[in-house]
Amino acid sequence: MKKRKAPADIPRTREIIFRIRRQKSPDLDSYWEDFSYVYDRSRGRQNIAGALRELGAVRFECGCLQKKCGACAMVVDRIPRLACDVWLDDVADLVILEPLKKFPVIEDLVVDRQVMFDSLKKMELWLKETAHETDGEQFSLAYQSSRCLQCGCCLEICPNYYPEGVFFGMAGMVPSVRIMTAMSDSQKKAFYRQYRKHIYEGCGKSLSCRDICPAGIPMEELMVNASAAAVWKRNKIKK
Ligand code: SF4
Ligand code: SF4
Ligand code: FES
Repeated sequence: MKKRKAPADIPRTREIIFRIRRQKSPDLDSYWEDFSYVYDRSRGRQNIAGALRELGAVRFECGCLQKKCGACAMVVDRIPRLACDVWLDDVADLVILEPLKKFPVIEDLVVDRQVMFDSLKKMELWLKETAHETDGEQFSLAYQSSRCLQCGCCLEICPNYYPEGVFFGMAGMVPSVRIMTAMSDSQKKAFYRQYRKHIYEGCGKSLSCRDICPAGIPMEELMVNASAAAVWKRNKIKK
């Protein structure tokens, strides 16, 4: 990454080339196309999502522009990131953008992440009976879990996740904790089998997903507690 200059040394305008892997439809081949964007700092700080909106030539998804919805996830210079969280002051003069590769491309930088939501359905990740009250340390775990954007960046970086597989990755583990803290005892018993099969047994625990998560979710802490309950039958997520 290009070294950041002191504000006084930064020119007011700078040309940035976005080299974008484009694809017109799911059944057509992809190709590269360059777009020139003149970044004018006097108009305020800009991020990649904002620049793509101004260019208007390439399809991508965005909702909040504030790291809240996860829609703008894409591969930026080979790293899965949120386009609204990559600021043009921090990028080089050439930026390479690609769609997330673990999901089918719909068009350009837009991918179909349905498989991620289907994983939550396969684990039956919803409350079937009256919720337990969440308190104390459980509340903290539930809160951290609820911050997941379902952006898919952790699945993109994970060497063990592939869409047709049994392992559902951190995008499955993190939201599990929120529901586990409120499940009835009988639902937990059944759910723990799902957790072991789809999360615990497939994870290599290398935690490269933790470093990439744009929400900064403490995955290690969540997984230690979820696995302690589901695998070793002890912890803060009470039975
Ligand atoms: S755990 Fe982080 S990287 Fe994974 S889907 Fe949730 S917010 Fe995105
Ligand atoms: S710890 Fe490693 S194997 Fe487990 S979900 Fe994260 S990247 Fe994948
Ligand atoms: S547009 Fe919502 S996270 Fe980027």
